[in-house]
Amino acid sequence: MTTRLNIVPFVSVDHMMKLVLAIGIERFLTDLAAYIEEDFRRWELFDKTPRVASHSIDGVIELMPTSDGRLYGFKYVNGHPKNTRDGRQTVTAFGVLADVGNGYPMLLSEMTILTALRTAATSAVAAKYLAPKGADCMAIIGNGAQSEFQAVAFKALLGINRLRLYDIDPAATRKCAKNLEGLGFDITPCASAHAAVEGAHIITTVTADKQYATILTDNMVGSGVHINAVGGDCPGKTELHRDILLRSQIFVEYTPQTRIEGEIQQLDPDHPVVELWAVMTGKTPVRGDSRTVTLFDSVGFATEDFSALRYVRDQLADTGLYEELDLLADPDEPRDLFGMLLRAAKHH
Ligand SMILES: NC(=O)c1ccc[n+]([C@@H]2O[C@H](COP(=O)([O-])OP(=O)(O)OC[C@H]3O[C@@H](n4cnc5c(N)ncnc54)[C@H](O)[C@@H]3O)[C@@H](O)[C@H]2O)c1
Repeated sequence: MTTRLNIVPFVSVDHMMKLVLAIGIERFLTDLAAYIEEDFRRWELFDKTPRVASHSIDGVIELMPTSDGRLYGFKYVNGHPKNTRDGRQTVTAFGVLADVGNGYPMLLSEMTILTALRTAATSAVAAKYLAPKGADCMAIIGNGAQSEFQAVAFKALLGINRLRLYDIDPAATRKCAKNLEGLGFDITPCASAHAAVEGAHIITTVTADKQYATILTDNMVGSGVHINAVGGDCPGKTELHRDILLRSQIFVEYTPQTRIEGEIQQLDPDHPVVELWAVMTGKTPVRGDSRTVTLFDSVGFATEDFSALRYVRDQLADTGLYEELDLLADPDEPRDLFGMLLRAAKHH
């Protein structure tokens, strides 16, 4: 890769798609999951803060920074549930990885596709620890942009091969089922969320609605089920009835952020939850009893994006799937920034 100081590698949407397809979606998700898990395991090293959110009536724009002391990363991401009505994505993102030693960006990347991949990989890593042994059937409620990524990650990491799909918009379910055709799933489109959860060992909720919604009620969740709750990720935006939370063992990414944004905003601020890193390092055991409902209250945390950027950067030298972006001013004499500008005038 380039050593010219003005150049920053840039991964466009086109290059990201080529990268994912060159590596293979399942392998990409599996390798990415390993990076995410590796970073969760060194949790204490990271600078952690709840993401900085700017809310409006229609949505939210968020900045998600973190650092392990050597590298620094941040992601810009939005969430606008009404966007799909005029042809836009609900969620779009881009991000930067930088060198802590000199503060120079080392990578600028699209992160809309990468967010879908990292969200799915994180859910699957969590489920590896939390889902009942031998689980092979998953309900997916909400069949929008994130849904197929969730399905493929759960297949790659847990061997899920039966899917039960439901969306209030049947066109979304048709799209999801069609996209997953030929990827090794037995797919059942369902007429209601009630029907979708029947017989499922894992329930993924990944709907978008900027309000308190009740996608799952208590009677829909049988004992021993693992819930992967992805869509409730903002103040005032949840998917599960409170009674489900009260009888589940609850797992979160970073407690201070999830208290604000996750399903647990419905609970007392001191309701016990377990952070994922503590499960992965063996510090906190998962309740052994097979009747326990486990809930991953996913909101998405900065370290997952950091891991994703780190993973993408490690693929660039071998694949060459990036552009060189003239992002940083680099005068011959570092203090002669003004002189560089004057010299440029001569060329114009
Ligand atoms: N936790 C995380 O890390 C993370 C990351 C990315 C996105 N998200 C969230 O995941 C959600 C889904 O994102 P997306 O990009 O797939 O959105 P999307 O708009 O593409 O899809 C959402 C789907 O949910 C369906 N839906 C809405 N209400 C429903 C209901 N009551 N029952 C069943 N289906 C319903 C919609 O019809 C739509 O098809 C969003 O809320 C987003 O903010 C979370």
